[in-house]
Amino acid sequence: MAQSKLTPQTLCVTSGKGGVGKTSFTVNFAIALVRNDKRVLVVDGDMGLANVDVMLRLSVKNNIRDILESGADPRQAMIFARPNLAVLPGSSGVPEMVSLGARQQNRLTDFLKTISSDFDYVIIDTAAGIGSSVLWYNRFCDHNIFILSPDPTSMTDAYALIKLLSRDHGINQFNLVLNFVRGVREANHTVDTIKRVTHRFLNLELFHLGSIPEDRSVCRAVLDQVPFVEQTPGSKAARAVYDLAQRIHLLI
Ligand SMILES: Nc1ncnc2c1ncn2[C@@H]1O[C@H](COP(=O)(O)OP(=O)(O)O)[C@@H](O)[C@H]1O
Ligand SMILES: [Mg+2]
Repeated sequence: MAQSKLTPQTLCVTSGKGGVGKTSFTVNFAIALVRNDKRVLVVDGDMGLANVDVMLRLSVKNNIRDILESGADPRQAMIFARPNLAVLPGSSGVPEMVSLGARQQNRLTDFLKTISSDFDYVIIDTAAGIGSSVLWYNRFCDHNIFILSPDPTSMTDAYALIKLLSRDHGINQFNLVLNFVRGVREANHTVDTIKRVTHRFLNLELFHLGSIPEDRSVCRAVLDQVPFVEQTPGSKAARAVYDLAQRIHLLI
């Protein structure tokens, strides 16, 4: 096991649009990394409608809101879902958590930095939309991974968020993971389109880390509250996620 890394790499899983597979990717990618002997912390940054804990069938005592507002101990709020895989649960049904004030942002920075030091990777699953907490997580992380589906609205929402982050927040490196892929031609078309548009209008180069096929095992695993990389490790989606985990060093 890798024990000597000084600083963890922080990854923000984001999209603009909801329902494109951010949470499924986050949870399964984290497990794939753990299988590669990494120590991983998953932070449920969907502060309004958290569901990492649901996908992993965890029972939550304290969440990020309790840490920020009631002084709960972040280390005690963390749940070890598997050996070397910790989860910091988010809050659900709390609209005010979608927009964080400056004091909460500072507190979040402090305690995330403190608890992250025990891990090789910190993966933050974010909410849909462009709320201030999403933008804050995008800025906080070393790498932004955009999950995209071939749906044109997924592309326009991702483009809108990329534009906002590059124009107003000084972020100009973005990774793409295409999800719900039904064929190579469709995947290439989607990736080429968003790359071309961001190059032409924003002068940015996006990096395509890889793709995940549409696969019924993903839906079944969500219903069973078991990650698909564990439930059906030989499925097309699981093999794709294991491949992505092998390519993590390529992230920009
Ligand atoms: N590759 C895939 N193939 C089939 N279904 C998928 C795939 N990825 C995600 N899903 C399904 O899409 C739904 C939304 O996924 P989720 O991870 O919750 O999205 P988000 O976090 O972006 O809102 C879930 O019900 C999940 O089962
Ligand atoms: Mg989600």
